[in-house]
Amino acid sequence: MISFWNPKVTMSAAVLGGVLAAYHGETSASGAAQDAAKVTTVASGVYSADQAKRGQTKYNQVCGNCHLSDLSGSDQAPGLAGGEFLDRWDGQSVGDLADRIRTSMPQDDIGSLNTQMSVDLVAYLLQANNFPAGQEELKADRGFLKTVMIKKK
Ligand code: HEC
Repeated sequence: MISFWNPKVTMSAAVLGGVLAAYHGETSASGAAQDAAKVTTVASGVYSADQAKRGQTKYNQVCGNCHLSDLSGSDQAPGLAGGEFLDRWDGQSVGDLADRIRTSMPQDDIGSLNTQMSVDLVAYLLQANNFPAGQEELKADRGFLKTVMIKKK
């Protein structure tokens, strides 16, 4: 007759517990610890004020007619500043937001934005959501953009 042999699978919980990194985000000269644990959020000044201004100009040209100039939204177009917007995007990356804009907006002229324009628009949306500007522009590098996380305050 047929007999079954069921190997007993054992798992060590110690394996799962081993990966905790202590990480001090102090502004010391040594950046080694920071490089090892690279998690950037929009709280750390990831766009420049000039870039947000470019984004705003574009926004007023091609987005404001639906999302309104104060970003409060209208009809089907949701608001792009404030609690509900941030609830939807919390935990996603600025790259996700830039891709969403580039591939589906402006809804009446889809495909008209290049990556740089979508990133400038993201800079403006970050500014409008009270995230601070920094010294450098948000780079239009899609790999990098995926590492910068939108995090509600
Ligand atoms: C013709 C009207 C219209 C225009 C113009 C337009 N949008 Fe939209 N937008 C919408 C509508 C409607 C939705 C919701 C449906 C959808 O997601 O497609 C939306 C959704 C969005 C979302 C997703 C919001 C969320 O939290 O999920 C973003 C971001 C966005 N638009 C940004 C932009 C930007 C930036 C521009 C300018 C480049 C723009 N839109 C231009 C109508 C428009």
